[in-house]
Amino acid sequence: MRIRILGSGAGGGFPQWNCNCANCRAVRAGAPGFLPRTQSSLAVSANGADWLLLNASPDLREQIAATPELAPGPDDGLRASPIKAVALTNGDVDHVAGLLNMREAQPFSLYAAGRVLDALGANPIFTILQTQLVPRIELRIEEAVPVTGAGIDLGLAIRAFPVPGKIALYLENANAPNFGTSAGDTLGLEIIEAATGDSFFYIPGCAKVDADLADRLRGAKLVFFDGTLFHENEMIEQGLLGKTGSRMGHINVSGADGSIAAFAPLDVNRKIYVHINNSNPLLNEFSDAYATAQAAGWEIGEDGMEVDL
Ligand code: MLT
Ligand code: MN
Ligand code: ZN
Repeated sequence: MRIRILGSGAGGGFPQWNCNCANCRAVRAGAPGFLPRTQSSLAVSANGADWLLLNASPDLREQIAATPELAPGPDDGLRASPIKAVALTNGDVDHVAGLLNMREAQPFSLYAAGRVLDALGANPIFTILQTQLVPRIELRIEEAVPVTGAGIDLGLAIRAFPVPGKIALYLENANAPNFGTSAGDTLGLEIIEAATGDSFFYIPGCAKVDADLADRLRGAKLVFFDGTLFHENEMIEQGLLGKTGSRMGHINVSGADGSIAAFAPLDVNRKIYVHINNSNPLLNEFSDAYATAQAAGWEIGEDGMEVDL
């Protein structure tokens, strides 16, 4: 499998349009050690020709332009795309808005949890993706769903599983427990290569590594994981937004409850942070945070990073 990080940033990207935090100022100024990052998405292919997108970010147009493999080829017809399918981990804006960039009557398949498909179905703007061209296929929990799109078998399967998390911000119900979140509102995806059975995990949003998730990930070859915040309170401490990581449904990187500690005993061969928020000190390659994560065996995802499995 070829895997490409299209966007390693969290919602808002890096720099975020309206953010003047120290990180955003540094990356805007081109300071050494800071790389711009687009919003959260991966692309994966078993045959190098046909691609599955994992999440469709608001930056998708720019991401396709930066990735020659995702452009129509010289032998293709007048309208063509190597992107044959899209799978969503949740209904967040940074993961679904790119679907609107895919509206030019191009066939592909759309895979997501039933509740996410319902949210898209309730919003008429997404009718621009006509269902006869873009079938919407439910990812049922724990079923390995073969990936097909535009008449092509991609040689991949997706096994979706619920992870601790939160319903999309715009669907929150202030009066319901955990804002109305149900199991499956935040999915982890295991992407399986049909020919070999090899697989990797993609979990860009996750509030906690509980015992089930730890068991699932133990010994994995490759995990792309939620690197939103380094510290639970970093957005509050920087005066950016009055929300903790937990309130946003994201685990921290650091600390006793953080992902570095949670993954330490799991023997994961390669682990890469994605969905990194602009407030996160990991975005400065010269920071102590970056050195700490690297020393714990983590890679910090970058746009354009290619991983072969
Ligand atoms: C998140 O990852 O928490 C969301 O992308 C936040 C948002 O919708 O802005
Ligand atoms: Mn997000
Ligand atoms: Zn910022």
